[in-house]
Amino acid sequence: MAIGGLACAGAIAVPAASFIAAPAAGSAGAAGGRERWVRVGRLADLPPGEPRRLKVIGEERDAFTVAKDQMLGAIWVIREGEKIRAMSATCPHLGCGIELNDDKKSFNCPCHASRFGLSGAPETGPSPRAMDPLATRVVDGWLEVDFRRYRDGVAELQEIAG
Ligand code: FES
Repeated sequence: MAIGGLACAGAIAVPAASFIAAPAAGSAGAAGGRERWVRVGRLADLPPGEPRRLKVIGEERDAFTVAKDQMLGAIWVIREGEKIRAMSATCPHLGCGIELNDDKKSFNCPCHASRFGLSGAPETGPSPRAMDPLATRVVDGWLEVDFRRYRDGVAELQEIAG
């Protein structure tokens, strides 16, 4: 079963561990704004050094309603030893989905051919910045990301609400 399909499952197979220190849930995050921790998959299902695309499924809120189990977006995750690197799969240029190249050594956006290294750094194309980084933590063997969305087409990270 794909990791993304496990986003809402309940089995726990790996002891709790924290890879990246993060403030308590609900407080202002390192990136500013409100944290939004979303469980995306089991740590044990992440092969070292191999990028994996995961769905982000969680609550979508507006001023009046809360909708559960909504598709919020997608991320690329790479396990590098004891660290987990997570980046939005949404292109910072104009918002298309970023794909992994066949050689698995870089990412590509099919819309206007922006190319990124595995670190998320831009290599070629019109993207004004690197792939958007997301904080991660591991809780009871589950990988969680502080999921945020950022404005397209600008060089600086500008978070957009929701
Ligand atoms: S939307 Fe990705 S390069 Fe334009």
